[in-house]
Amino acid sequence: MSKYSSAELAQMVQEDRVHRAYYTDPDVFEAEMTKVFGKVWVYVGHDSLVPRKGDYYSTTLAGQPVVLTRGEEGALHVIHNRCGHRGAKVVNQERGNARILTCMYHGWGFRVNGELAGVPMRAEFPQEALQGPQAGMVPVPRVDTYRGFVFASLDPDVMPLMDFLGSAKEGIDELVDRSPMGAIEFSAGCHRYRFRGNWKLQMDNMADTYHPAACHISTVGPDGRQFQRRAGKEGGSAMFFTSNGESVVSQLGVRGFAQGHSSEQSLFDKVQSGGVFDEYRTLLVQAHGEERTTEILKNVRHSLTLFPTLDILIAQTSVRVVKPISVDLTEVEVWPVRLAGAPAAISDDLVRYVNITHSASSFIQSDDLEAFERCQEGMRSQGTDWILVARGLGTDVQEADGVLFGPRSSEVGQRAKHYAWRALMAA
Ligand code: FES
Ligand SMILES: [Fe+2]
Repeated sequence: MSKYSSAELAQMVQEDRVHRAYYTDPDVFEAEMTKVFGKVWVYVGHDSLVPRKGDYYSTTLAGQPVVLTRGEEGALHVIHNRCGHRGAKVVNQERGNARILTCMYHGWGFRVNGELAGVPMRAEFPQEALQGPQAGMVPVPRVDTYRGFVFASLDPDVMPLMDFLGSAKEGIDELVDRSPMGAIEFSAGCHRYRFRGNWKLQMDNMADTYHPAACHISTVGPDGRQFQRRAGKEGGSAMFFTSNGESVVSQLGVRGFAQGHSSEQSLFDKVQSGGVFDEYRTLLVQAHGEERTTEILKNVRHSLTLFPTLDILIAQTSVRVVKPISVDLTEVEVWPVRLAGAPAAISDDLVRYVNITHSASSFIQSDDLEAFERCQEGMRSQGTDWILVARGLGTDVQEADGVLFGPRSSEVGQRAKHYAWRALMAA
């Protein structure tokens, strides 16, 4: 039981500010595992991680161990990673393939859909104790997918996944359609690291086009250009500051969605060309047509962030998964993705690009991690209880589907997350 009532939790988010307890109080963290992560759709994995029957991928959902599996009939399952006998975690490798998942403690075996398949010396148990899903590895109530992204919910009555995604799903399309086959693959490994701060600090940052001018200044050369971001583009690197001294990124707009999602406008509007890029373009045109191809290559969105913990870095062709461990410890995974059917050189280049920008030792992500840890430390101060998210408030423009557009690095995307959190806490 949280020491806070629902109303008290909801009051931690005001129109233009949030209470520091939102990031620092272990009771708030416990409450959000149930009232936020237990109630919405949470990304659990990608179908390319489990391509064959019997494949499994173990991860967490709301801090609980779960396994994404591909069943005998080819369907995807998400099951609790917990033995029906005395509760041991059954799957202890990140990935593998098995016909039967076997618990190491007393040897119970489970089909990859979670059903109990075998019990050593079965006759000595009352037989009714071995019946029903709770004797197996219990399935998570709801599982659904969109274009390879697998989502699960602990709430059997959760809204349909398509309603939860709303028009934000176009950001997933934008990434996946970069493949001439309309499929991405999580086949380039994963960067994994932890920072000593609350998970929402990372999520806020994903909707923050205000910070780069200050936070990432060390990545800019004396000529005002940032390190080479993309090959096949004139000059190879983006101008960081405009002639009046504002950073280019901080002029970008942000969108906030009703379910707490957000997206940033694209930083790159010129299409890469020459050599393999022209070959790639031809393949895309064959798949999607001329107009859609130009749209895809131009990047409509820099990124799409899905509440509560998934970030699709469209420009960086990668997917970030944020895993809350405790109120002040967070694990981040960065998965560069390969584009099925694209020339290998394109995917190789994109993987290298993510190493520069978002790996644990990258130019960009390391700045952000330093900022998160400083926020977590600074918020121990009782000088004031409130953290501002007021930038652009009152100037956001209402679009279709409950979307708010905030020009010029508005904090509208962060507000969307805070307000979605508040609505769940108030329920
Ligand atoms: S705890 Fe798994 S078999 Fe006993
Ligand atoms: Fe950043």
